[in-house]
Amino acid sequence: MEILIYQTYEELSKASAQVVADLINSKPNAVLGLATGSTPLGLYQELIRMHKEEGLDFSHVSTFNLDEYVGLSPDHPQSYHYFMHENLFKDINIEPQNVHVPSGTTSNYHAFCQWYEQRIEQCGGIDIQVLGVGSDGHIAFNEPSSSLGSRTRIKTLSEQTIDDNARFFEKKEQVPIYAITMGVGTVLEARKLILLANGTSKAQAIADAIEKPVSSMCTASALQLHPDSIFFLDTQAAGKLKMLDYYQWIQAKKPGAPPSS
Ligand code: GLP
Repeated sequence: MEILIYQTYEELSKASAQVVADLINSKPNAVLGLATGSTPLGLYQELIRMHKEEGLDFSHVSTFNLDEYVGLSPDHPQSYHYFMHENLFKDINIEPQNVHVPSGTTSNYHAFCQWYEQRIEQCGGIDIQVLGVGSDGHIAFNEPSSSLGSRTRIKTLSEQTIDDNARFFEKKEQVPIYAITMGVGTVLEARKLILLANGTSKAQAIADAIEKPVSSMCTASALQLHPDSIFFLDTQAAGKLKMLDYYQWIQAKKPGAPPSS
């Protein structure tokens, strides 16, 4: 695991966007796994800037989103379809047929989940999966007690997640209770994982994910099992890490480190 700590949200957004842009520049038909929530908004803003100012080309890129609320249609303002369109897709040159977001309104969730997994495989697997983290340590909507081998399926949201996400809805009662989400096992198959977190509300989840044993009670801890995962944190989200000095030491010494490949 690589742990990178930045003074500001802007810096962490730019650094994580650069990793995605480097992939697209070296592999124009890259497959991206994308996340919603407020955390990756800065990364998406930076990708849009790179597209507009530097010609970053998404015309051969494919994307797969992590999750969607059950019951919300793509035109619902709180659906993740709508979020992605508004915050990224409408401002880059991605082909609509290359965009995949789980359906919150399919008539057969089981069949849809199987199709989604197959479609990821058909596209050659995910090159980089962008992740945020819930305050209860979830990745995508893999709530505490989700199997670390889980695949795309329906999950029941925890009360903590419903409370956290209520800020996007008029009333807490409007937050859907169920979601369709990639599993932890699905996420772990991506070739690279980048997890972004900022703010004090994520500090405990980050400390659990990085420094506690791997556990289904904090599904972000599954990143410990992945050979190529990077945490992009601001100083607040990193605030409860016991080995913080060591991670900052590694980061500072990185430019002089022997090349690993
Ligand atoms: C939701 C999403 C997660 C996201 C989390 C954190 O639960 N399913 O993918 O990481 O929210 O959201 P935010 O970045 O707004 O804190």
